[in-house]
Amino acid sequence: MVRQHVNPLSRFHLVPRPLPAPPELFAAADLPLHLDIGCARGRFLLALAQQDPHRNHLGVEIRRPLVEAAEADRQAAGLTNLRFLFCNATISLQDWLGALPAGRLALVTIQFPDPWFKTKHRKRQVLQPPLLAVIAAALAPGRELFLQSDVLGAIEPMVSLVEASGCFERPAGDARPWRSDNPLALPTERETYVLNQGLPVYRVLFRRNEAAPPPPAASSPSPTASP
Ligand SMILES: C[S@@+](CC[C@H](N)C(=O)[O-])C[C@H]1O[C@@H](n2cnc3c(N)ncnc32)[C@H](O)[C@@H]1O
Repeated sequence: MVRQHVNPLSRFHLVPRPLPAPPELFAAADLPLHLDIGCARGRFLLALAQQDPHRNHLGVEIRRPLVEAAEADRQAAGLTNLRFLFCNATISLQDWLGALPAGRLALVTIQFPDPWFKTKHRKRQVLQPPLLAVIAAALAPGRELFLQSDVLGAIEPMVSLVEASGCFERPAGDARPWRSDNPLALPTERETYVLNQGLPVYRVLFRRNEAAPPPPAASSPSPTASP
């Protein structure tokens, strides 16, 4: 059984997992890298990696059974520009992104992140200040961060965080507060489901500017009891 929601602040998920460096993941490690945070079952990336062979695609996901199933699909398809890794992105991506060669990271996507509605659960949201700081440090000027969700309460705090960093701008001409279309070639599974229900999707494309990245926050979140 795959749990619907995982508490990323449980003791187990707060332990950083060392993630393999690009040469251990991809056949051509020096290709530009697309990082998809919270990739779930991975079907979006499986299709995108075939359509977009000139980039490497890495999906990270906190539910291990989904990662195992996605990796099995990837191996069956014989794709060497795609990998899926099990980790708590909020915790484990910080060192990994910090060690990437300059200019390697081309695009970061966070699509339909789990919404946490209660104020006391805000720290469970995947995009926390330390993760945003390393994303901003790893993205060269002009590179992009794409956010989308069907839940305003999930995307608005992320947008506020990104805007407060001062490190990103929206492309000139993009509608505000929400972009009218998806700049990616393919929709995610959740996106397809939401659009088929006739529900709105809130999207923002951010482009890295020249500003210095914010310093990484010093404190880590404290664990909570539930797994
Ligand atoms: C609502 S699903 C959306 C999946 C996919 N992006 C889509 O649009 O179809 C959000 C995913 O993010 C994962 N997730 C939540 N918190 C995470 C974290 N801290 N690190 C990695 N993945 C996380 C969840 O397990 C879930 O699979």
